Amino acid sequence: MFTRNRRLRSNASIRSLIQETQLTTNDFVLPMFVMEGDNKKEAISSMPGVFRQSLDLTVQQVKENYALGIKAINIYMKVSDNLKDNTGKEAWNPNGLMQTTIKAIKDAVPEVIIMPDVALDPYSIYGHDGIIKNGKVDNDSTLEALANMSVSLAEAGADIVAPSDMMDGRVLAIREALDEANYTDCGILSYAAKYASAFYGPFRSALDSAPVDSQDIPEDKKTYQMDFHNSREAITEVLDDVAEGADIIMIKPGMPYLDIVSKVREIITQPIAVYQVSGEYAMIKAAAQNGWLDNDKVLIESLTSIKRAGADMIFTYAAPEVAKLLNK
Ligand code: PBG
Repeated sequence: MFTRNRRLRSNASIRSLIQETQLTTNDFVLPMFVMEGDNKKEAISSMPGVFRQSLDLTVQQVKENYALGIKAINIYMKVSDNLKDNTGKEAWNPNGLMQTTIKAIKDAVPEVIIMPDVALDPYSIYGHDGIIKNGKVDNDSTLEALANMSVSLAEAGADIVAPSDMMDGRVLAIREALDEANYTDCGILSYAAKYASAFYGPFRSALDSAPVDSQDIPEDKKTYQMDFHNSREAITEVLDDVAEGADIIMIKPGMPYLDIVSKVREIITQPIAVYQVSGEYAMIKAAAQNGWLDNDKVLIESLTSIKRAGADMIFTYAAPEVAKLLNK
C-alpha cells in the first residue's frame, strides 16, 4: 500500500491544515419575520427559536446579531388581512410595514445589509406570488407590481432586493425600474432556481401566506416555481436571471438541492446564495428536541455542506445560534 488516506486524518492539527471549507459568520444572511405593534413577540411553533416580532424588538435583535458578526438580513412582513387584495398594492405603500422596518433598521445599524423579499404572497388575498387573472397567476401584470415594490423598497433604503416570485422577466423589469428611479446601486439577488417545495410549510404558517383553498385559483405554486424532478431547467433559470442583470443568484431549498448548487457553481461566476428553508430548520430542531440528533453538530455540518457544494452565502434561521458557536 503506497496510499493511505488515513495519514492526513490522524490528528486534529493535520485535519485542520487540509480543511477545504470553513464556515464563518460572514456567510450568513438571517431571515426575519416582522409584525405590527410594539414590544410584541410571537413564537412560531414549527420553528423553535424563531419569532415574529414587532419593529422595536426586530431592531434590537439586528443590533445584537450585528455584534455577533451577522451583517446581512432578509425580511418578511406578516400583513393583516384588511391590507391584502389581489393587486398587492400594500407592498409599495411608502408607509407600509416593510418600508418602515427598512428605515428603522438603517437608522439604527447603517452597516447592516438589508435584502427584503420581493413577492406578492404576504399581500395577496389568494396567497399567490402574483396577480390572479382569469383563474391564473398572470406573469406580465405581476411584473409591474414587482417593479413598483422594488423601487419602493430601494427608496426606503434596501441595499439589495430579493425577488422570490419566479415570474419570467422580473429581474429585467426590476432592474429597469430601479435604474429609471436612479437606484442604480441597489442590487438584485434573484431566487433563480426556486423549487415548488413542501419544505416551505413552516414559513407559510409563520406569515399566514399559503395559497388559499378555492376552486377559482391554482391550489399550489407549481405553475411558477420549479418542478423538483428537474435539474437542467435550473441552469436555464439561472442564466436568464444573470443575463437580465441579477447580481447574486439563489438556489432554494438547500440541503435536498445541493446537486443543483454544485452544477450551477461550475457554470456561473456570480455569487451564489443558498436558502436553508423553514422545513429544513424544522426537521433539525424536531430531531434535536427529541434527543435524536445533536443540534449544534448537525447545524454546523448542514451549513458547511451547503458551503462545500458552492454557496457563497447561506440564508439560515439558525444564524444567531451558529454565530455563537463559531465565536466560542
Ligand atoms: C415567498 C417566499 C417563500 C419562502 C421565501 N419567500 C414561500 C413560498 O414561496 O411559498 C420560503 C422560505 C422558507 O421556507 O424558509 N415568495
